[in-house]
Amino acid sequence: MQEDKVQKVIEHDKKYFAKAGRIPYYPLVIESAHGATLTDVNGKSYIDLLSSASSQNVGHTPKKIVEAIKKQAEKMVHYTPAYMHHEPLSKLAERLCQLSPGSFEKQVLFGLTGSDAVDGMIKFARGFTGRPYVISFTNAYHGSTYGSITASTISLNMRRKIGPLLPGFFHIPYPDAYRGMYGASNANTVDEYLAPLKEMFETYVPAEEVACILIETFQGDGGLLEPVKGYFEALSELCKEHGILLAVDDIQQGFGRTGKFSSVEHFDIEADLIAYGKSIAGGMPMSAIVGRKEVMDALDAPAHLFTTGANPVCCEAALATIDILEEDNLIAETARKGQRVKEQLQQWQTKYDCVGDVRGEGLSIGIDIVTDKRNKTKDAEAALKICNYCFDHGVVIIAIAGSVLRFQPPLVITDDELDQALTILESAIQGVENGELDTYQVEGQGW
Ligand SMILES: Cc1ncc(COP(=O)(O)O)c(C=O)c1O
Repeated sequence: MQEDKVQKVIEHDKKYFAKAGRIPYYPLVIESAHGATLTDVNGKSYIDLLSSASSQNVGHTPKKIVEAIKKQAEKMVHYTPAYMHHEPLSKLAERLCQLSPGSFEKQVLFGLTGSDAVDGMIKFARGFTGRPYVISFTNAYHGSTYGSITASTISLNMRRKIGPLLPGFFHIPYPDAYRGMYGASNANTVDEYLAPLKEMFETYVPAEEVACILIETFQGDGGLLEPVKGYFEALSELCKEHGILLAVDDIQQGFGRTGKFSSVEHFDIEADLIAYGKSIAGGMPMSAIVGRKEVMDALDAPAHLFTTGANPVCCEAALATIDILEEDNLIAETARKGQRVKEQLQQWQTKYDCVGDVRGEGLSIGIDIVTDKRNKTKDAEAALKICNYCFDHGVVIIAIAGSVLRFQPPLVITDDELDQALTILESAIQGVENGELDTYQVEGQGW
């Protein structure tokens, strides 16, 4: 009977929900979610290692956020910030300016989803510098609006049939610390990674016409990649030399995910603009751009406003999110838990042939599944088999960039839940190594 309920929803979605909006993984119809636990319509529970794509950092339905939402919804659901003021916006703007890194005066603007914040950063960078060009990285995912898609280079499916995209965008190799450029199995040096940019500046893109470089510090959907040490510091120097702004997309890695409030704090750089989204308001639709005051001053209304932006219910949810991060010492706890998980996973790297790399900061960890460790050949099929085994055994995890297991649980996950999830994940890895997971048909699944 209950099985039919799952099938029914899936069939309905097939009929009414357009396929461009969902990457197929599992037949999971979620009924409720609390902390790090999901419960499906059949009453089966799962440990969530995906956090709704890193949008549930403080966990599912925390009491503080639910109460804040209810309280504000009873007072006022919305009045547009485009014309009037409300206190939740005002309070949140101040707190974000205080929390976001950068020893300069800042201002904030709000949007509805990460993608629009990326578009906003592009507008402000162009507006402030008066320059047209934007540079982003290969393999980047910045979102689904025209600006953020133009900056994204991760998937042909997001660019096919919708062109022309925006003019004035260029892309440079992400400084991957595991594999190198153009199919090389070993990472390149900082200088080698900077060479394509320098060549660009010398031959076909005048540096004085570049408004900003758009960065994901740790590249998220591109495979949870870490940069080689010193790259962003060197890039930042080069940008200063040429008056180019650094615009950081912290939508996936921000709000405590990496064991710091912003992932920028792992580097010795200052970002002129930072975009937050996903977890900012406990999963309520919201994004924010926090930028240098003089940069944010460069545009006049209505250059970047949204009727339902800075919704007071979402602002209250965001304030409660920040309270939880602070009161529960969640950011330091994330660093601790992440370290613990990484230590265990790194043992698997020596123990299992298919575990090529384990990387990341805090609870933003990528496990790269390979066919052989020397060439680091990605094994997307094995990665998906591991995911499917985990799903069958009550753990939700997905593979990105083909072969990378995305380990991003809600930051409130308990040590006990982490242990349970790791036990199942290890059985899955053993299963794939022993050829026991061949019954899983993974075609058509995943990115
Ligand atoms: C790094 C990064 N930037 C931007 C986005 C887009 O955010 P949204 O889907 O909320 O528009 C995402 C979403 O996955 C992301 O991971």
